[in-house]
Amino acid sequence: MALPDFAVVILAAGKGTRLKSSLAKVLHRAGGRTLIEHVVRACLPLKPRGIVAVVGHQAAEVSAILKPLGVRMIVQEPQRGTGHAMLVARRALGSSVKYSIVLPGDAPLVRSETLAELARLHQQSTASATILSAELAQPSSYGRIVRREDGTVQAIVEDAALSADQRSISEINSSIYAFTINKLWPCLARLRPDNARRELYLTDAIALLRAQGDIVHALVATDADEVLGCNTRADLAAVDLAFRRRKRAELMAAGVGMLMPESILIDPDVAIGPDTLLEPGVQLLGKSRIGAGCTIRTGSILSDVTVEDRVLVKPYSVVSSSYLSAETQVGPFAHLRDAARLLKGARVGNFVEVKKSVLGERVKAMHLTYLGDARIGRETNVGAGTITCNYDGANKNPTSIGRRVFIGSDTALVAPVKVGDGAYIAAGSTVTENIPSDALAIARGRQVNKPGWAAARRRELAAPAKRTPARKPKRKASPRPRPHSRVRSARVSRGKAAAAARRARKRSRRR
Ligand code: UD1
Ligand code: CA
Repeated sequence: MALPDFAVVILAAGKGTRLKSSLAKVLHRAGGRTLIEHVVRACLPLKPRGIVAVVGHQAAEVSAILKPLGVRMIVQEPQRGTGHAMLVARRALGSSVKYSIVLPGDAPLVRSETLAELARLHQQSTASATILSAELAQPSSYGRIVRREDGTVQAIVEDAALSADQRSISEINSSIYAFTINKLWPCLARLRPDNARRELYLTDAIALLRAQGDIVHALVATDADEVLGCNTRADLAAVDLAFRRRKRAELMAAGVGMLMPESILIDPDVAIGPDTLLEPGVQLLGKSRIGAGCTIRTGSILSDVTVEDRVLVKPYSVVSSSYLSAETQVGPFAHLRDAARLLKGARVGNFVEVKKSVLGERVKAMHLTYLGDARIGRETNVGAGTITCNYDGANKNPTSIGRRVFIGSDTALVAPVKVGDGAYIAAGSTVTENIPSDALAIARGRQVNKPGWAAARRRELAAPAKRTPARKPKRKASPRPRPHSRVRSARVSRGKAAAAARRARKRSRRR
């Protein structure tokens, strides 16, 4: 595809009032990208003479997206309609270019192939303008194509200006056109803002071309989705849905399995190998690369990840900016982030968080664990409830754990700290010093058992309650039990029990 005789003009200056947003319309996102980026990407494969965007609202932000894509920008200020935008673009186009493809910045579903077809048709015919149109079941809000009996186009009539007869026309104007430039300019000069919005409408140029005896054709898009514009939030949602459907269809055609595909969200740059299965509610975002033969189970969200082959991500896991080597397993309910890296066959289980850490081959961390800024050698077993205390209030400190280490449950590793190959750490340890290879580290209080202590305490607790009624007659008779009296006696007896317990402790210490 190469269209050296064509310059592309993208009309992207509008605010998007109907979105009720502080963000300019073309900066809104659908299908994982801003609207304007989709439109430019559809144009790039055409290899046109140049791409010019007419910008206005939030021009700086729009420019930040367009510059890297090699798009020239021209500012329309104020924005006085699509025809006015085209007049502004004229300055940027120069006089040497023969044809122009014009697109709105808010119809992002259009495909390169369709644009190429429009250009080819226009170039081969004698028409001064060729419109991309579509048959829509719900044409309201779009301008309609009014055709003559010979099938050529007579005019475009905006929705607000339709006569009762014209209202039944279902062929709409997509706002995507091919123009023969030297025919268009004289008509633009004759546009008048005599319409509902008091703007210069590019659509009015069609009737003006006809009036000067020119021919206008319309190419009906085979896929009506391609022309959908985004004027409202509901339009944005519908367009997003169409993009997601398109992406899923591509992937399924390439061998990716999906259950309840309509519940699965996949960004445009995501790549997935064949025989990978995606369960309902999965989201694959950013520039994620997923290998072949993987299973991503329900509710998991993966963004900017690299996942090799035969990986299992169990339900409701969240993995971002991380690397999962072949045959690793993650979840359910795991959270891997910021450069977590699992080497081949490593496994991370439920309620385990891994951040900026490397887990060697076949390392297991199966339950309730936080591993941050850690390197863990192959085949090490990380017990339930292990925590790397990597943050000292000011800095993040590293933890280095060797190969085939056994970390007992509920171990706190106070970083910076190193554990040698083959070491054992007793459960419940708080490790503050390095552990040599093959050593056993126990870092916890020694257990003391006090035989019979609990039974004695229970007896003491029970005893004062029995004695209280004996004292009762000494008190002044009272018709009803005094409020709080029982509470007070309980407090007294508890005090006594505590004293007894203290004595018992003292005795056992002496022993
Ligand atoms: C326009 C068409 C309508 C068509 C519909 C298809 C006109 C008058 N109407 O209506 O026939 O069915 O698109 O989606 O053209 N823009 C500028 N400068 C301006 C005004 C608009 O650059 O001064 C840009 C907008 O940013 C937008 C595009 O032009 O990207 C279209 O403008 P919009 O207001 O969305 O036109 P519609 O009402 O949708
Ligand atoms: Ca629009």
